[in-house]
Amino acid sequence: MVQVLGLTGSIATGKSTVSQYLRKLGFPVVDADLISREVVKPGMIATQKLRQTFGDQVFDNNDELNRKKLGQLVFSDSENMKKLNEIMQPAIKTEIIRQIEKLKKSSKKMIVLDAPLLLEQNYQFLVDQVMVVVSSPTVQLQRLQQRDGLSRKEAQARISSQWSQKKKRLMADVVIDNSTSIEETHRQVLKWLDNSKLR
Ligand SMILES: Nc1ncnc2c1ncn2[C@@H]1O[C@H](COP(=O)(O)OP(=O)(O)OP(=O)(O)O)[C@@H](O)[C@H]1O
Ligand SMILES: [Mg+2]
Repeated sequence: MVQVLGLTGSIATGKSTVSQYLRKLGFPVVDADLISREVVKPGMIATQKLRQTFGDQVFDNNDELNRKKLGQLVFSDSENMKKLNEIMQPAIKTEIIRQIEKLKKSSKKMIVLDAPLLLEQNYQFLVDQVMVVVSSPTVQLQRLQQRDGLSRKEAQARISSQWSQKKKRLMADVVIDNSTSIEETHRQVLKWLDNSKLR
């Protein structure tokens, strides 16, 4: 049986760092962020629904979705946000399931679903185990500020607009602590893979 690992965690805790490492070790990764961008490419069903709902104004002349305009419409109006989610979430979920099912036919021991909102979207039913990447709050804030060039206040606002690390940690089957070096994080991942006989 192919194991499906759900990889998640709060913003800038190190999810991508861990998923890159798992990829490097040979495990296929289904990337929910990438999928959320693919389902709104020109010609896709979700794209057509967005045009029906929000009009031509959210598209550029070359038919590319204008995220900034869409963002303005949905962040100022919760009804619009609801409509957006009702279009996007089923499209993303369907594509995630399609990719997982396809990869399940491969001879890999494990496939990874990298989904920042795995717990918020209730994607647990798609995976066998949930891995939550955490880091100390101070380190999380510093790394977020540095990577995205944000002030302390801006970074703090992004962190507190989302589910807390504490809440996600409680829902984990396995926790990877990425507070220190990348090597130390890799070591924890390897240890878990060995203990789970996945390597
Ligand atoms: N152990 C580490 N030591 C030093 N820097 C790190 C470490 N882990 C991650 N970083 C850096 O911290 C930032 C956040 O890491 P990463 O992108 O892996 O987090 P993420 O959880 O995927 O973030 P997001 O929620 O935005 O997708 C990046 O700039 C990354 O290079
Ligand atoms: Mg990431």
